[in-house]
Amino acid sequence: MKIAVIGTGYVGVTTAASLGELSHEIMGVDIDKEKIRKLKLGTLPIYEPGLEPLLQQLLKDGALQFTTSIQEAVDFADIIFIAVGTPSLPNGEPNMTYVEQVAKEIGRTVRHDKIVVNKSTVPVGTADRVKELILHEMKAREIEANIDVVSNPEFLQEGKALQDAREPQRIVLGCSSEVATEKMLGVYAALEAPKIVTTPRNAEMIKYASNAFLATKISFMNELARLCDRLNVDITEVAKGMGLDQRIGDHFLKAGIGFGGSCFPKDVSALCSMGNQAHMEMSILQHVQEVNFTQPNWFVEQMSKIMNGLHGKKVALLGLSFKPETDDIREAPSLKLIPKFLELGAFVMAYDPIVNDKVKERFSEIIVTEDPYEAVSQSDAIVLCTEWRMFLEIDWRRVKELMEDNYLFDGRNVLNPKEMRKVGFSYWGVGRRL
Ligand code: UGA
Repeated sequence: MKIAVIGTGYVGVTTAASLGELSHEIMGVDIDKEKIRKLKLGTLPIYEPGLEPLLQQLLKDGALQFTTSIQEAVDFADIIFIAVGTPSLPNGEPNMTYVEQVAKEIGRTVRHDKIVVNKSTVPVGTADRVKELILHEMKAREIEANIDVVSNPEFLQEGKALQDAREPQRIVLGCSSEVATEKMLGVYAALEAPKIVTTPRNAEMIKYASNAFLATKISFMNELARLCDRLNVDITEVAKGMGLDQRIGDHFLKAGIGFGGSCFPKDVSALCSMGNQAHMEMSILQHVQEVNFTQPNWFVEQMSKIMNGLHGKKVALLGLSFKPETDDIREAPSLKLIPKFLELGAFVMAYDPIVNDKVKERFSEIIVTEDPYEAVSQSDAIVLCTEWRMFLEIDWRRVKELMEDNYLFDGRNVLNPKEMRKVGFSYWGVGRRL
């Protein structure tokens, strides 16, 4: 099939490459000329394991091409995926400007029947709105053609995007016609995942409900971890005991310094806004946000209590991205911790295997090093902020020797407390009492 993917951000590029791998002919589109120039040369604008070699292979095979012209892409494709961003507005609602602009552009350029697919995470009712915008533009040009708008949310996790695209746990197809259903089943025919065919509105809600539920699990565990800390209970043991119950499952039960990224915070807010507009109070989700918002403060308070204040202390942050295997720092817990440390008069050193300049630009007061051992050198405390594999394998004895004092705060509960204590650290994890 001939497919256009509009938007070459994280979702767009992964979608384009993974559909290319399914033997479709793909054209990626973006208005950003520099990005398209780089993509044509096989250079990814983001860090995502395995994606760049695949991109280069598909370019070489001629299965994937890029353009800045929507007209060219609309003429080329039978199926057009919209994969542009829907970032949060200050009031928590998603900013729909980019999706709406793309819909209008499609309406201004389309000449024949098309299937338009929303990959972007969008509020319930957006498929109808996109169709309306396209038809409105077509009417002004006196063009008649069948336009079907499908909601096909993506469930990729950054850092594991390619694996998720190759082995999806489900494919949700919100279709309003048989033609669209048949075509969309054809797009994914080579994948064995369960395919849920439903209405566009249901599909739109499935995406928000999934992300909000996962975020709820995390905030639930984070709140419980605070109680465990008080009651001398270990949250990781509790999670192990809970997770063996298949009704609960053992994923997303890791307590820590809170969830970040471009999806959970934005999507929980968007669902609350949808509730507001429908005059429904989303009280559970409001609390999920509240716990996530206060978790970094609580973490710093515990540090401060344990260390008798942070004024004049040197704190070394290990990891800055919102999670491992990505260079994404959107809503990263590190960005919430740094201002708190500075406010309390601490000196901050930081290291991340990939993220560097973006954080330096934001906080001129901190020192971001090129080497983890340099970051911890002469520090009083270490905060493990992002569980990059290299931190699990680091020479902790050497780290300890380089430090001034011996506090180790594990913001992700990934280190072995007993081993760390044996090395000589004063170890503290989030709700860990082992
Ligand atoms: C999330 C969803 O997991 C994807 O299914 C979805 O497609 C994506 O959003 C999206 O809407 O685009 P992502 O934001 O890449 O994916 O990251 P996750 O791996 O879900 O992690 C989100 C945050 O939760 C991270 O900060 C992570 O450290 C934190 N987390 C995760 C915890 O604190 N505890 C856990 O047990 C799991």
